[in-house]
Amino acid sequence: MADLFDDAEPVQGGALHLAEGAILLRGRALAVQHALLEGVARIAQAAPFRNMVTPGGHAMSVAMTNCGAAGWVTDRRGYRYAATDPLDGRNWPAMPAAFAALARAAAAEAGYPGFVPDACLINRYAPGARMSLHQDRDERDMTRPIVSVSLGLPAMFQFGGPRRSDPVARHPLRHGDVVVWGGPSRLNYHGILALKPGEHPLTGAVRLNLTFRAAR
Ligand code: SIN
Ligand code: FE2
Repeated sequence: MADLFDDAEPVQGGALHLAEGAILLRGRALAVQHALLEGVARIAQAAPFRNMVTPGGHAMSVAMTNCGAAGWVTDRRGYRYAATDPLDGRNWPAMPAAFAALARAAAAEAGYPGFVPDACLINRYAPGARMSLHQDRDERDMTRPIVSVSLGLPAMFQFGGPRRSDPVARHPLRHGDVVVWGGPSRLNYHGILALKPGEHPLTGAVRLNLTFRAAR
């Protein structure tokens, strides 16, 4: 496991330029890790993790839930944002203040001041779960960035360009890392390679990812 993620990058602190408009802030979420994890646990009690189905009819390997005014959902009808949880018709849990504050601060650090996310997609990866290369394009305003927070087990992030055929770089994401992309890289293709088994002291055998967006 360790050798897979052995590279020249620092484990925490510092920033890595990924592309024009895209930056990886190492360990940026560590100061609020407990607030984030407590928030996720509370949200998952009200809106449980579930494996949603793609428009093509495949169950996603990543389990998902949401908090905030808008939640990202997929089913046979397509990808979209919904104000309510399709499982029970209730509003998604409110976005905790600590979540929004971290997203706003990380976005500002990356050069996107005044970011106010209304959607937080929470992804849970068990070993073997993956997210194939895709663009985040279901949001109304592409001038607002994406803020993506990693917790728990490490994973390999793929980050390409705006075309599917563009070269794709790989960056290990570890507990507490935050990636921000926007502006010229807002529509860059990205994904997560299949999660390797492991045990994290705070999350156990899973990786969690919080993706903040201004959806509406
Ligand atoms: C996503 O693109 O929605 C997830 C990215 C991640 O899990 O880091
Ligand atoms: Fe994405």
